[in-house]
Parts: sequence; C-alpha cells; structure tokens
Amino acid sequence: MAFISALLLTLRKGTDSFVCHAVHDLKMEKEKQPDEIVTTGVLESLQNFIRKCIVAVLSYGPMPRHIAFIMDGNRRYAKSRSIKEGAGHRVGFSALMASLLYCYEMGVKYITVYAFSIDNFKRDPTEVQTLMELMEEKINELLENRNVINKVNCKINFWGNLDMLSEPVRLAAQKLMASTSRNAGLVLSVCMPYNSTSEIANAVNELCAERRDMMQREHAGSSNGRAVGSGAHSDISVADLDRHMYTAGCPDPDIVIRTSGETRLSNFLLWQTTFSHLQNPEPLWPEFSWRHLVWAILQYQRVYPYIEQNRIQAKKQL
Ligand SMILES: *[C@@H]1O[C@H](CO)[C@@H](O)[C@H](O)[C@H]1NC(C)=O
Repeated sequence: MAFISALLLTLRKGTDSFVCHAVHDLKMEKEKQPDEIVTTGVLESLQNFIRKCIVAVLSYGPMPRHIAFIMDGNRRYAKSRSIKEGAGHRVGFSALMASLLYCYEMGVKYITVYAFSIDNFKRDPTEVQTLMELMEEKINELLENRNVINKVNCKINFWGNLDMLSEPVRLAAQKLMASTSRNAGLVLSVCMPYNSTSEIANAVNELCAERRDMMQREHAGSSNGRAVGSGAHSDISVADLDRHMYTAGCPDPDIVIRTSGETRLSNFLLWQTTFSHLQNPEPLWPEFSWRHLVWAILQYQRVYPYIEQNRIQAKKQL
C-alpha cells in the first residue's frame, strides 16, 4: 500500500499532463501550473508507461465494472479560487472528461454521473441558467468535436426527467444520445435532471401503464373467444420494476464516489446501490484526479470479498 501511494505521488505530474491533453482535445482552457509546462515529451511517455504498469498491477485484483460519481464541490472550488461559479463547473467538466479516459484505460465500462438533481432547480435562477447554458455548450462541443467520444467509443445516455430541461438543452441531449447509441465501448450515463425517488415513481407508472395495456388486450382477446395469458394479474416483482428503471440493462454500481468529503447519497441511485462501496474522498470534484481514482479502486478491492459474500448471501435468502 505504502509503495503504491508513493508511486501515486510521483505520478501526479504525469497524470495532470494527461488531463491537459484531454482538455486540449476539447479546446478548453484550464489554468496551467508552471510544473505542467516544463514536462518534456520523454518524461511524459515514461510517466504514461508507469501509469499503464500500475493499472496492469491493479487489474490483478477485482476491477469494478461500474463507477458512479456524485460530482460535488464545483462551487466550493470556484469560491476557494475566487473565480466565477460557472468557471468552477467548467473545470469540473474537464475533470469528468479526464476521469472518463482514465476509466477507459482501466477497463471500467460503465460510468454514471450525477450532473443535475431535480432539487437543483431551486437554486438561484441565474446559476441554473448558467449551468444549463454550459450543458448545452458542452453537449454541442461533444457533437462537433468527437475526439474524446471516438477515443473511448463512448455511448452517452441522459437519465432523468428530460422534459424539465429547456428545449435547446433537451434537443442537444437527444441528438447526442442518438448519435452515440451504436457505440459499444464505454457507457457514460449523465443523470440530469434526476432524483432516485422520481426514477422509482416513474418506473411504477410505466409498469402500471404496461399492465393496463395488457389487461385491455386480454379483455379484447377474450371477447373474441381467444385464449390469452394472464400476465396482467400477476404480482409486481422487483425484476419488473428493474426493467423500467433508467438503469435497465446496466449492472449496479460497484463504487459510488462522492467528492469533497460529503457522506450523503442525496437521492442518487437508491434502488441500485445495495451492494455498492461508498467513498467520500476529500478533494473537490475539479481536483479529482487519476491517483484518487486508483486509490478508490484499491479501497474497493480491499472490501471486495466482504461485498461478494453479502451479495451471495442475499441471493441465497431469496
Ligand atoms: C424528486 O423529484 C420530484 C419530481 O419528479 C420532486 O417532486 C421531489 O421533490 C424530488 N425529491 C427530492 C427529495 O428531491
């Protein structure tokens, strides 16, 4: 553990320059630190190599398939650096792109992020407005400049009550979903505007509508004298509801990371996190980097046998 954390520290510069590349790809400005500018090409490729070695060592242990992020701390970051709130969210977006690339390198297939909660609509209207504009801008940027998406062959989902979004944001989101729907690499799901209780209520509504349809068809069928299955009368099962969650077809998160040290789930994926390992690293979201991700995976590997045991026990009890 100590050896790895020492290595993580030495690698810090290298990963930061990796972030710079990702950021550069998207034509985004990030404040450059003096030590990033001096990094030479040789040093960089050496660091890339060491990073790959560490990932290779890490992959001997159980690797998560799905990591969910609560990207907390953009506003605090802006405040602490006395930059505008919008600028904090911008750096947050760069951190997200970098995390995507890291997860891709580590073979993590599913990434889910809590981008905007339904409750966030209660914030100051100008902040909501700035955030929505930023979303639209970034989605359009992703539509135009496909470097990052192509690199990780990424499929993008938007999960939430999309009709709560303004029309331009909603249309851009739908366009991005449609244009990436056939990509088979990484799956990025952006929860926006989302809350878990609303997702569950939504699933119940959809299931009820489905059952109503079945009942009507059955009724029509029996009046024609044809025999029809009696599915409409069976009880509602957990699996039925699962099918109607936004997350249908996606494994439950193995790790949920909430940055800036907060320890609440705040109505995020409540249905899907029974066996998830929760982590609350100290850095604010814009500061979240490769070594924090590696550390999170190491922690997950440490508790993995216990999680698996719980999972197996739960299955047995059914
Ligand atoms: C979740 O979203 C619903 C809207 O669908 C809203 O009425 C409710 O207040 C939200 N719940 C919480 C706890 O944020």
